[in-house]
Amino acid sequence: MEVTLNINKKNYKLDVDDGTPLLWVLRDELGLVGTKFGCGIGQCGACTVHIDGVAQRSCQTMVIMAEDKEITTIEGLSENGDHPVQEAWEEIDVPQCGYCQGGQMMTASALLKKNPNPSSEEIRMAMNGNICRCASYNRIEKAVATAAQ
Ligand code: FES
Repeated sequence: MEVTLNINKKNYKLDVDDGTPLLWVLRDELGLVGTKFGCGIGQCGACTVHIDGVAQRSCQTMVIMAEDKEITTIEGLSENGDHPVQEAWEEIDVPQCGYCQGGQMMTASALLKKNPNPSSEEIRMAMNGNICRCASYNRIEKAVATAAQ
């Protein structure tokens, strides 16, 4: 079926199976590979994007559910990599292997949009579902707090 998606402020018309996860459309059809496949079952957060400003798992979002919504991927978070979260990530030197970090930043930026001054506990709660195998959790928390300043 034909679906129309608004991704990073651009419209795309695509012919895909309506049950296709948004993650595969982003990566395989559109080449937006900053959104990562980790577990495919909604458990790791590597595939996190914003849908109408809310952090969502793209591996668990059927493409038909994303029609007529505003989708933002890590590539569209800012024009020049200068979103406060991206700048804080660089300042704190958060990533180790880097694989999960796009998803981490998408969750962090959605949190700060909703709650510009979160407590440590609120940061930990919000970031809880994003897994990092390199265990960069302390740096992630520090970067979110830095971005909030
Ligand atoms: Fe979607 Fe892990 S790949 S939550």
